[in-house]
Amino acid sequence: MHRRSFIHYSAATGAALLLHPLASLAKPASGKLKLALAGTGHRGSGFWTRDLLRNFSEQVSLVALCDHNPGRLQYVKESLGLSCSLYTSYEQMLRESGADTIIVTTPDSVHDQHIIQALQAGKDVITEKPMTTDEDKCRRILEAEKQTGKKVTVAFNYRHSVHNMQVKELLHKERVGRITSVDFNWYLNVHHGADYFRRWHGLRAFSNSLFVHKSTHHFDLLNWWLNSEPVEVSAYGSLDHYGKNGPFRGISCRTCAHQQDCPFYWDISKDERLNNLYAKNEKHDGYLRDGCVFRNEIDIYDKMSAQILYANGVIANYSLTTYSPYEGWQIAFNGMKGRLETWEDIPYLQKLPEDQSLKHAIEMSQSDDAVPGEYREIVVMDNFAKNYEVFTTPKIRGGHGGGDIRMHRRIFAEPNDNPYHVMAGTRDGAMSILIGIAARKSIELRRPVKIAELTDLVPMAKRWES
Ligand SMILES: NC(=O)c1ccc[n+]([C@@H]2O[C@H](COP(=O)([O-])OP(=O)(O)OC[C@H]3O[C@@H](n4cnc5c(N)ncnc54)[C@H](O)[C@@H]3O)[C@@H](O)[C@H]2O)c1
Repeated sequence: MHRRSFIHYSAATGAALLLHPLASLAKPASGKLKLALAGTGHRGSGFWTRDLLRNFSEQVSLVALCDHNPGRLQYVKESLGLSCSLYTSYEQMLRESGADTIIVTTPDSVHDQHIIQALQAGKDVITEKPMTTDEDKCRRILEAEKQTGKKVTVAFNYRHSVHNMQVKELLHKERVGRITSVDFNWYLNVHHGADYFRRWHGLRAFSNSLFVHKSTHHFDLLNWWLNSEPVEVSAYGSLDHYGKNGPFRGISCRTCAHQQDCPFYWDISKDERLNNLYAKNEKHDGYLRDGCVFRNEIDIYDKMSAQILYANGVIANYSLTTYSPYEGWQIAFNGMKGRLETWEDIPYLQKLPEDQSLKHAIEMSQSDDAVPGEYREIVVMDNFAKNYEVFTTPKIRGGHGGGDIRMHRRIFAEPNDNPYHVMAGTRDGAMSILIGIAARKSIELRRPVKIAELTDLVPMAKRWES
């Protein structure tokens, strides 16, 4: 027998009202917050332009878009019916646009340039994750924020999902006592997982591996859930499936001779928006959105695992797989009084089947509707107990479990709604990528790597007192 409790999101929002670092971003008395955006790819033109303006046009206005691809810029402006200025020069946009805040949605390896230049031009910044890709860039961002007194918000949308907030609430209340260890496994499927190998993410020079690009989400969740910071990382990783391991290869799916034989063949022309954004504009910059997943130049890992020691003594075991038949994750927190487990999207634990090829597109969509008949579960079992307790949250498929829209609302409309310090700044951005950077170094150096080797940030046992 188990007891089932329905818990709603409002339980978490009522918990703590704390001003986050971007409280000043709320609609200024003089009118709307003026935003400019750098990087009009899928994320920038979708979530940070189309969706933001659809939901928060009373709070914000978009004064400028910047991208070094003029075709993409023009397509985004026309397809969304925007009236803002367009710039191919970032410096010129900073000088002329009159924006208060810059949204950075360029590829990871150039976030640092865009963040630092914006801060130096007197702007606040909202940056997509990962904050940046290596420790030197990370140090420079921290320094620029300190010197300019302007603020950087790191857009960790997963924190804001209804389910993840509920996990945070139970951990905050020490439902299973002090946490001592964590097992955390994330599975990317052969559709979404493969997509990282089609373009810049597949090269260390641009992403510093998925340990930074993708795991930054997961490491940030761990840091936030545990309310502590990492001290040391040991890791393993290798490339087994994609890149040079493929039986054949081409340049891009559209031009490939192996379209019939390749299970990863993907026809970008069937997706009107991606075709217009990327394929129709590759003449300007040569950016192939449907590059071959078996390119010889791919040099990131496709399977990886890490052990992370936290300043509060927690040991976390983490793994990421990029070629799973299904996409989902599971986590278990072992506490002094019991164990808390949860998972998302494990097919045999769900009632309704999902189309794995469409899953990522749905996650990136902004539908915020709960799926009828489906719930997400958090199972708590006390030591020596015969029963277990199941907490349920609604299953929201779109917008990263409802995290996207809630993060937007907190940044632009309700800046005082900051339960459990959910709003993230540069310290959070740094601590999550430093785990991934340390993991990559650990693999290369074949030894544990301390976070203190990378920056002068001193890991805190307790990130927030309350
Ligand atoms: N939080 C999330 O869930 C989430 C989801 C998707 C992407 N992202 C992040 O969003 C960012 C963008 O991702 P994407 O998939 O849209 O990438 P993308 O490569 O499709 O788009 C990046 C855009 O930046 C432009 N660009 C590149 N270098 C530039 C430069 N120096 N100056 C101006 N423009 C430049 C490119 O032309 C392109 O239009 C990445 O940092 C990624 O990690 C986050």
